[in-house]
Amino acid sequence: MDMSTSAALLQRDGAPAAAGSALIECSGLWKFYPGSDAPALQDVNLQVRGNEFVTLVGASGCGKSTLLRTIAGLETYSRGGLNVDGRPVSGPGPDRAMVFQHYSLYPWLTVLDNIRFTRQLKAHTRDRTSADVEAAAGRADALLRLMGLTAVANAYPNQLSGGMQQRVAIARALMSRPPIVLMDEPFGALDAQTREVMHDLIAHVHRQEKSTIVFVTHDVEEAIYLGHRVVLMAPRPGRIDSIHEVPLPARRTQDMKLAPEFLALKKTILDRIRDTSGMKTDLELLEKLSAQADGAGL
Ligand SMILES: Nc1ncnc2c1ncn2[C@@H]1O[C@H](COP(=O)(O)OP(=O)(O)OP(=O)(O)O)[C@@H](O)[C@H]1O
Ligand SMILES: [Mg+2]
Repeated sequence: MDMSTSAALLQRDGAPAAAGSALIECSGLWKFYPGSDAPALQDVNLQVRGNEFVTLVGASGCGKSTLLRTIAGLETYSRGGLNVDGRPVSGPGPDRAMVFQHYSLYPWLTVLDNIRFTRQLKAHTRDRTSADVEAAAGRADALLRLMGLTAVANAYPNQLSGGMQQRVAIARALMSRPPIVLMDEPFGALDAQTREVMHDLIAHVHRQEKSTIVFVTHDVEEAIYLGHRVVLMAPRPGRIDSIHEVPLPARRTQDMKLAPEFLALKKTILDRIRDTSGMKTDLELLEKLSAQADGAGL
């Protein structure tokens, strides 16, 4: 993959927004879904700084997607405050791009046209100059190179592997230079090897683009490898259990997964997920059941 794409082309104009201060701020955030009396989010307090890479991890149903979608403005919240860059969130905006687990590409458009699609939509809503068109073409080219997609620019999504389709979806999300990228289990459907490649790619993209990333996963290793901080959530009610700084250099390499600090944090988080999920494997009970089954000649 070509990682040599010019940083100048890809950097957003000016400095990263609000570097060092909170770009996303959830304060005392509650969310009830209609018809449910248990909160999907209970008193969530979280600050994400500009250019930070924060991962959300936790047992199924702990509210990871709800929190991400609320930050995206795709869900309303019931109580509390949610500000992005100092302004209350009242719906989706061009400052926040979302990448979902399923690639959601337009099957009738080529890779290049999928990447350019949002930019083209925008172009219809305001006067387009030739400089705009050139800038968009340059940006699309740069993203194709960054994501290692140049050779398949004219292919259609159904001609690509899952990993490649997800790279197209990420490139499309990045096309309009969103300061914030929200990702909901984007690599959940990929095999282990492809996921590793995608991890290094997304970390590289994060460095190049200076974006702020909030990344949901249920994979603890993925959460630690990618995150500057790991936010551990717990279910029933959905809440933040604990927030863990990752004690590793910002630039990660695969061999760090074997570092003692990495393994210690992984154990801490896995133990805590087991404690909070209420879903422990009961080996004694399993053995009893299989003894009963043997006794009954099943
Ligand atoms: N649209 C909805 N309407 C009603 N309840 C919902 C809705 N979406 C989610 N919930 C409930 O809110 C809680 C949190 O769900 P959410 O999807 O945010 O969890 P999650 O952490 O993303 O889980 P998973 O790891 O399985 O994706 C769950 O109890 C879920 O059943
Ligand atoms: Mg989810």
